[in-house]
Amino acid sequence: EAAEKGGYPHFMIKEIKEQPEAIRTTVAPRVRAGLPCLEECGITLEKLREFKSISVVACGTAMHAGLVGKYIIESIARVPVTVDIASEFRYRNPIVGEGDLVIIISQSGETADSLAAMRLAKQKGATTLAIVNAKGSSIAREADMLIYTLAGPEISVASTKAYITQLSVMYLFAFELALAKETVSEAECKRLVSALLKMPEAVKYVIETTEEKCKYVATKLITTDSLLYIGRGLDYALSMEGSLKLKEVSYIHSESYAAGELKHGTISLIEDGMPVISVATQSDLIAKTISNIVEVKSRGAMNILVCSEACARTLEDGIADYVIKVPQTDELLMPISAVVPLQILAYYTAVNKGNDPDKPRNLAKSVTVE
Ligand code: G6P
Repeated sequence: EAAEKGGYPHFMIKEIKEQPEAIRTTVAPRVRAGLPCLEECGITLEKLREFKSISVVACGTAMHAGLVGKYIIESIARVPVTVDIASEFRYRNPIVGEGDLVIIISQSGETADSLAAMRLAKQKGATTLAIVNAKGSSIAREADMLIYTLAGPEISVASTKAYITQLSVMYLFAFELALAKETVSEAECKRLVSALLKMPEAVKYVIETTEEKCKYVATKLITTDSLLYIGRGLDYALSMEGSLKLKEVSYIHSESYAAGELKHGTISLIEDGMPVISVATQSDLIAKTISNIVEVKSRGAMNILVCSEACARTLEDGIADYVIKVPQTDELLMPISAVVPLQILAYYTAVNKGNDPDKPRNLAKSVTVE
């Protein structure tokens, strides 16, 4: 096992560091002449034009990739997307049928609820698209269309590189859908694809420049019992994954909240020294999120901010206790780089607490029973 870890103490950190390569391997073969090409996966522009609505169904981290996907698809392809937890979808007689696309996202391709949800969607006449990492798995075999994430085997129970490749595929898919629906021009689509192709470099840079800071900030979290993640828009979708990662491996209670919803209840939890981790990468929402950061600060929160360079520039001194900056990329693509410090923070918090991040208590890598 030591040899398989390639010199790293845990698979989780090894897999975090494999992310640039995982994105490259997943994206590069699906680009032709600067445009997304998903024909080998059974997806053509003609087919995509037919879909009027999309449901994304998954569990855990894969479901969080779907949440980011919803924001991307709705913002550039203007097709309505709902995101469902598979165990909810399958028992509520979901409204899907002919003309609808149901996307199932799964690392293992064997999650019982996700598989059952896919079978139900097919039975109701919907077209299914699986985004799966494990080759030849049940979900991969039974779906109408299939896009493999090419992250390679993921050993750590807490998913990192599979998530980042699920995001990458959601981008490719959204770009292709936007082309099909003619909501973006070919030139704009090419610009987006070229920005996506640069993300491995951006992620590599984020790993190199934020690891030490995250390691330090993690030392500030070990004595806390409970903390909050906040964000708006894409940053909210991303902070859900940050929160899950942290609670999975550190066993610290954590919740992710839409920043604007704080004042409707959750802000009552804030007390002196409680950590609040904010994510702010979307320029149209930065001022709003910063005002929430100021609000929790005045109630005693310890503010940790993961943000874009553009956001950091607008921040007044003393508002955030710790700032972890990620380089500016195309704003739509920021979740791919901004998730990295959230993963590293979770990893070092677990290690500082003496937990084994690869095998968190009570969790399994693949949940094949209900
Ligand atoms: C388990 C794993 C999670 C994973 C979820 C869905 O709970 O511990 O890391 O996100 O299952 O798994 P899947 O294989 O369907 O992506």
